[in-house]
Amino acid sequence: MNEQELLKQQVAASAAQLVVPGSILGVGTGSTVKWFISELAKRDRLTPLNLAAIVTTSNRSKEQLESYGFKVVELADIDHADLVVDGADRVDDQLNGIKGGGGALTLEKSVAVNSEKNVWIVDEGKLVHHLGGFPLPVEVLPISCEQNFRQFEQAGLEPTFRQRQDGKRYITHYGNYIIDLGISPLPIPSGLAGYLDSTVGVVEHGLFLDICDELLIARHDGTVETRY
Ligand code: A5P
Repeated sequence: MNEQELLKQQVAASAAQLVVPGSILGVGTGSTVKWFISELAKRDRLTPLNLAAIVTTSNRSKEQLESYGFKVVELADIDHADLVVDGADRVDDQLNGIKGGGGALTLEKSVAVNSEKNVWIVDEGKLVHHLGGFPLPVEVLPISCEQNFRQFEQAGLEPTFRQRQDGKRYITHYGNYIIDLGISPLPIPSGLAGYLDSTVGVVEHGLFLDICDELLIARHDGTVETRY
């Protein structure tokens, strides 16, 4: 296993220990979460966790969870999750994050804000002082996506439509497009979040502010640091 994967496994194993038996668990998306699901299954095999319910933020995670015998329900089937474990693309000093690299930001944010506790699992390469250095995904409705694109261009946000490998536009789970913004480091990300929140046609964006309660960081020296 290469070092990057090893770091993901280490931080995922630490997060699996935070899951409380009998609780309602939210499981995010991404390559680090993939490790979390296998570590969760490992723990469950040793001592069954008897989770009351599991919700997840992508079909990929759902299929992996089901392959281990976990039953996955929809967000609409629960009131809230007790804990959500998810990855992140960048995390700043205040534990604000950019998420949505995998395109699942809308469901990720919906699950996150309906959880008692959010734990993010990252390796130290994701840490930044100010959010930036990674395209900021914005999910937009197809009907007004060209107008949104031009608005972002005029605002100097360097938009690009996310594309699939075949060159066609990437389509989200909800049938929308993603416009990735080329942002420079944001000392006060709430300004841009407010602008995007109030832009008609924007379904959701990848600025996850004041959501993460606990950040687990895999360090290259083999340790896992926790920040609150
Ligand atoms: C998915 O849409 C994202 O928010 C992921 O949580 C994020 O991209 C982290 O993924 P990795 O663990 O693969 O870096």
